Amino acid sequence: MKVAIVGASGAVGQEFLRVLEERNFPIDELVLFGSPRSAGTKYAFRGKEYEVKLLQHNDDFKGVDIAFTSAGAGTSKEYADTITKYGAVMIDNSSAFRMDEDVPLVVPEVNAEDALKRPRGIIANPNCTTIQMVVALKAIEKLSHIKRVRVATYQAASGAGAAAMAELHEQYRQILAGEPVTVEKFAYQLAYNVIPQIDVFTDNGYTKEEMKMFNETRKIMHSDVKTSATCVRVPALRSHSESIWVETERPISVEEARKAFAEGEGLVLMDDPDNKVYPMPLFLAGKDPVYVGRIRKDLTDDNGLTFWIVGDQIKKGAALNAVQIAEYLMKAGDLK
Ligand SMILES: NC(=O)c1ccc[n+]([C@@H]2O[C@H](COP(=O)([O-])OP(=O)(O)OC[C@H]3O[C@@H](n4cnc5c(N)ncnc54)[C@H](OP(=O)(O)O)[C@@H]3O)[C@@H](O)[C@H]2O)c1
Repeated sequence: MKVAIVGASGAVGQEFLRVLEERNFPIDELVLFGSPRSAGTKYAFRGKEYEVKLLQHNDDFKGVDIAFTSAGAGTSKEYADTITKYGAVMIDNSSAFRMDEDVPLVVPEVNAEDALKRPRGIIANPNCTTIQMVVALKAIEKLSHIKRVRVATYQAASGAGAAAMAELHEQYRQILAGEPVTVEKFAYQLAYNVIPQIDVFTDNGYTKEEMKMFNETRKIMHSDVKTSATCVRVPALRSHSESIWVETERPISVEEARKAFAEGEGLVLMDDPDNKVYPMPLFLAGKDPVYVGRIRKDLTDDNGLTFWIVGDQIKKGAALNAVQIAEYLMKAGDLK
């Protein structure tokens, strides 16, 4: 298997190297790509050094079986034809193709088989907040159809990339040293703050991130579910948290929900309020599953249930989800 990683120097690219190594993914040949900024940089994988090549419109993708791309939507759009020209399957982490009808949008725990139909050779990895939410929603949907979702997210700095995570570290250092605070990656200082804006605003007052949660959830779940989201950046470094309210067709008891979450694929139940047990981002960074806790009946709606989830958005929300898609294709005999 010849594997390419486009955007190898980034937060997601580096996670790809860790996840592929951790899962012992079958790789005979690995090629790393980046912009002029990281071209020539070397990264270790399974004890060997690999140099980042400059991404160009040439034949570098000849012979590549899978290309994991995480270099932003603009780069994905510009290079998709070059990457897929010789038959490589492009598993793309950007928002470039997610809502295109001829591109499947896949979370293996929910709709793995959609990955088998990919006329353009492209499979899109959903938005990170949506990935972790639908893994949890799937467990409830099995019990009763979910009609509405209301969600507030608490998104870590690293969701905006490696440089954003570094900026949060630097802001705390600058504050403690009494220095002026650098604000480049976010609209405002994030240290000691929360920012109720992720991505740009659209005409209806919701941000693009919030509209991704509405649209992508429907596509992945093949559902008419409506999602109303408020996405907030918080000064956590890694792992997104979400407070979720669902309205189902029939009432679901807390006990039923607990059982469904405990048995749900890709989920871990972490719900023991008497002992202060609930998921928190600080302690769950680097973990594979989505953790669920604080499960309660919604006090305003008999058919409502509310719960809290935490997932590592660089891992399950990006690199791991993409690698799981590739593993599914291999298992299905859909890759050589
Ligand atoms: N961070 C997350 O939690 C997360 C989660 C899900 C999805 N995503 C998506 O994944 C993508 C990458 O995010 P990230 O957080 O890893 O960002 P990042 O840390 O800022 O890294 C961006 C990567 O893209 C590469 N790149 C940029 N322009 C390029 C070009 N013209 N040609 C080749 N490589 C180029 C960069 O390489 P150089 O260093 O060489 O410039 C770098 O490796 C984005 O589309 C993002 O929306 C991120």
